[in-house]
Amino acid sequence: MDIYKLLKFNHKIKNHRIKFFGLWLLSILNKRYLAIQFDPVLACNLRCKMCYFTDDEYVKTNMKGIFKESDLEDLAKVNFKNALKLQIGCGAEPTLFKHNVKLIEIAKTFKVPYISMVTNGNLLNNQDIIDLSQAGLNEFIFSMHGVFKETYEDLMDKGNYETFHEVLGFISEEKKKNPNLLLRINYTFNVDNFHELKEFFKVYDKYSIDIIQLRPIDKIGETTYNNFSLKAIEKDYEEINSLLKKESAKRNITLLSPKTISRNEEESFKVKTENDSSYLLPYTYCYVSPKFYWKDDFDWKTESFGSWQKRNSWNKILFKNIFLSKKDLKKPNRNMLNYSVEIN
Ligand SMILES: C[S@@+](CC[C@H](N)C(=O)[O-])C[C@H]1O[C@@H](n2cnc3c(N)ncnc32)[C@H](O)[C@@H]1O
Ligand code: SF4
Repeated sequence: MDIYKLLKFNHKIKNHRIKFFGLWLLSILNKRYLAIQFDPVLACNLRCKMCYFTDDEYVKTNMKGIFKESDLEDLAKVNFKNALKLQIGCGAEPTLFKHNVKLIEIAKTFKVPYISMVTNGNLLNNQDIIDLSQAGLNEFIFSMHGVFKETYEDLMDKGNYETFHEVLGFISEEKKKNPNLLLRINYTFNVDNFHELKEFFKVYDKYSIDIIQLRPIDKIGETTYNNFSLKAIEKDYEEINSLLKKESAKRNITLLSPKTISRNEEESFKVKTENDSSYLLPYTYCYVSPKFYWKDDFDWKTESFGSWQKRNSWNKILFKNIFLSKKDLKKPNRNMLNYSVEIN
């Protein structure tokens, strides 16, 4: 399944009522529509300055817990059969979990069509890459916060630039054996690391990259790096984004980037988008961690997805949403970690 084609198709449909109609249909037919975002471990080996892992108080309170290997099978039974996609890693570092191969194998038995992993990559060795790829991982998403060593290691504290490059090399090699494996780069930018993107291909052309996502910095906590304003690069954004678009197209790389980074910074750091997918997120975006399972009242150990849906009149709500105006629909008020993007 090409998840990026699906994303493009979803972007083409602008009308939220049509989207809810489709979702309602998928739900009553018990089909796949969930994007499961799974943090198997709430910890990280790095201390990136834009990330809440530099907020000691937040880490102390929220970042604890590891999923039991013996629970993976039961977890999968709850709703993997309704999953369109499983993303391993979301708000923490998944490579600290030692059972990712098993998790992927289980997801495969439930025929989850797309499995990705979002990681800083620093803990992966060549054998890990081979094992994850052979188990059926469809995509590695590697996060980076600097094109050059100095910026990378400054903004990704405890990260190692040479290790990162070595792992990109391992994946590029593995892709020769497994052409279905995709490599995506997530570049979170701020006013200090944005301009070096002009040189991106000078440094990274040797790797076999399929997708690049540019993510504007969002305020996700009381972080060490705290300049969330993008005003100073609003003008240059257009030029550098176009350059990257052109260069990506030449290399057959899909670029995911917002059309504009203008936002009312007094109100929110959410960038403007014409897409209405965010209205659907409460119904499709299923976040799971050792501490939390999607909705507050859902105990996955004692209840099935079906009975939970029944108890909450799920299908009725989806149907009613077809007739609600955007104003009346509940909209998440901040960017989700995988917020909507414009595609080239
Ligand atoms: C929190 S990390 C968790 C997964 C994994 N540790 C990683 O870095 O890929 C998920 C994504 O959030 C991005 N990120 C970190 N700080 C951010 C910020 N302040 N605003 C937007 N995205 C951010 C990271 O670059 C990464 O792509
Ligand atoms: S962005 Fe990812 S790698 Fe960096 S500190 Fe946050 S969770 Fe860790």
